[in-house]
Amino acid sequence: PAIAAVIPAAGVGQRMQADKPKQYLRLHGKTILEHSVKPVLAISAVQQLYLALSPNDPYFAATGLTAENIVRVDGGAERVHSVLNALLAIDAEKMPWVLVHDAARPLVRPQDIELLIQRCLEVGHGGILATPVRDTMKRGQSLINATVEREHLWHALTPQFFPTALLRANIQAALAAKVVITDEASAMEWANEPVLLVEGHSDNLKITRPADLQLAAFYLEQNQ
Ligand code: C5P
Repeated sequence: PAIAAVIPAAGVGQRMQADKPKQYLRLHGKTILEHSVKPVLAISAVQQLYLALSPNDPYFAATGLTAENIVRVDGGAERVHSVLNALLAIDAEKMPWVLVHDAARPLVRPQDIELLIQRCLEVGHGGILATPVRDTMKRGQSLINATVEREHLWHALTPQFFPTALLRANIQAALAAKVVITDEASAMEWANEPVLLVEGHSDNLKITRPADLQLAAFYLEQNQ
């Protein structure tokens, strides 16, 4: 089936303490955003990429991202609103599936995206890339309340892949019900839709703090 891609890139990236949003910081001569877009556009079934950008974004024009199949939409107050704006721009009949990927994840492997798509199409419902938790997990504030069973815990990564119309409807319904939505899967879980966990790789990190940029540069060198 034809696939649409959504990349929310309208965040300000406060935790990076940088002079510009993190998606515009440079990694090996290219912006993080360009790195994040590349493996998504490399998927042959992806027909259009919807990029959610801040309405007065002064940085996008200077990137090399000028492909005809890139559609720009306005971002919203939070990530979920940016994603929803992009979903509303998609013709779900033409592109019945959608791949949502963070602009701040420059190192996702194209093979992992292919695997996610293939597994979801096999089972006929949505799914996400994720990695198993390796540390011992504790619940608590300043003191530990409990150790959380690690065996069935995962880190949710992106891309996340869902039927377009269903994702759009469930995000709208979850927002109306004031559910906190930090990724697409949370809206689908809230609606009791099945979401497949597909094991990815931990080098698909989200650039969040300054040290992440150094780690990403290291991974990039290893993979070349
Ligand atoms: O800040 P965080 O790392 O959670 O952001 C994840 C992704 O969501 C980033 O690609 C960021 O640009 C995007 N985002 C957005 N609109 C917002 C906030 C974040 O598109 N209002």
